[in-house]
Amino acid sequence: MKVLVVGRGGREHAIVRQFSKSASVETVYAAPGNDGMRLESELVSIDEMDFAALADFAKEQGVDCTFVGPEQPLTEGIVDFFESKGLRAFGPSKAAAQIEGSKTFAKELMEKYHIPTAAYETFSEISPAVDFIRQKGAPIVIKADGLAAGKGVVVAKTEEDAIAAVQDMLGDRMYGKSGSNIVIEEFLDGEEFSFMSFVYKGAIYPMVISQDHKRAYDGDRGPNTGGMGAYSPVPQISREIIDNTLNTIVKPAVEAMAAEGTPFNGILYAGVILTPEGPKVIEFNARFGDPETQVVLPRMKSDFGKFMNALLEGNSYELEWNDQAVLGVVIAAEGYPNQPLKGQVLPNLAGLSEVDIFHSGTKATSEGFVANGGRVLFISSDGATVEEAQKKLYAQINSLSWSGFMYRTDIGWRALG
Ligand code: AMP
Ligand code: GLY
Repeated sequence: MKVLVVGRGGREHAIVRQFSKSASVETVYAAPGNDGMRLESELVSIDEMDFAALADFAKEQGVDCTFVGPEQPLTEGIVDFFESKGLRAFGPSKAAAQIEGSKTFAKELMEKYHIPTAAYETFSEISPAVDFIRQKGAPIVIKADGLAAGKGVVVAKTEEDAIAAVQDMLGDRMYGKSGSNIVIEEFLDGEEFSFMSFVYKGAIYPMVISQDHKRAYDGDRGPNTGGMGAYSPVPQISREIIDNTLNTIVKPAVEAMAAEGTPFNGILYAGVILTPEGPKVIEFNARFGDPETQVVLPRMKSDFGKFMNALLEGNSYELEWNDQAVLGVVIAAEGYPNQPLKGQVLPNLAGLSEVDIFHSGTKATSEGFVANGGRVLFISSDGATVEEAQKKLYAQINSLSWSGFMYRTDIGWRALG
């Protein structure tokens, strides 16, 4: 098989690496990819959003399957475009990607099909939103309706913070068009986990679960980010809760999308909080999580290429996972998420042993790799337990000097408590 991976982040690096390990994959192309992927793929300098050039490339090279990483091309219809050219692309249609692209769409779907989620209201005007906040009290959660790179969510501890967030989104249009509607929802308290599944024509293959760390700083403080670290498995979430999530959230969501005439194919990501009343959805994504993918795919025991081929051909497949724990941390540029520093040189990564390194915001220069984005690297270790993986990882990372970079030092803390 020849595969084309669309995207340029750490998530796409993990997808590229998993395909490159497959006995049935002959060539992996990455468009546009990043310099850190060169050993495992052929970089193609076409932007994620240039659908016509991507499709032409796939056709010319005889690509068997295009795997789309990020949300933006999906919500703008890359899969529909490829299919209209007779090409196979794995991911949701534009209509189905709304499950991520519009919080309102997702909320209405869950309400209609009784999929457990936080109670909510939608607003486009400031004053009724403020009245609602006054009536409900804090803590309360304010979300921009559209895509905001994981940053359009404010978990407000006080009514004043909530009102300020409404003002930012609806008054000052901090998130542009994505914030012209907002969702205000009930605060859910509990353990959070990411439940991702491969979905194709009604078949669902759940992955092992993982836990992300969304806040920028240690102790889960600071602003929300795209994710600062992750680990898998999540030992504090039982097998029973995982099965319950599959049966009350994932399967009903896949059935609901089909019933609505927008069948979902691709990676369905359920962000879940285990509340005292059971698991509830905080968000759906229409793609792999970043950085969850970097800790989940390495646990796949099956051959990724063979599995994908079976999935797309409609053949059943026994998808197997290993029992190892994997834990990793994002190395971000100093100043992330607001004003990440650019251009500083990374320490020599050859000094690290027994870790996996995934590149996201890096660029190769004559001085070595330099920072070229907010989240720069993802570095992970495995171990028999989460604790062992954490110890191994930080012993390695702390052995280098990271001037101009920042990373959390407590990834996995909830599993160790
Ligand atoms: P989202 O972009 O929807 O995943 O939200 C970012 C983060 O905000 C989540 O990972 C949660 O930690 C938190 N969050 C979102 N919605 C809620 C909620 N209803 N209750 C509590 N925390 C939430
Ligand atoms: N790590 C969360 C996300 O990918 O949305």
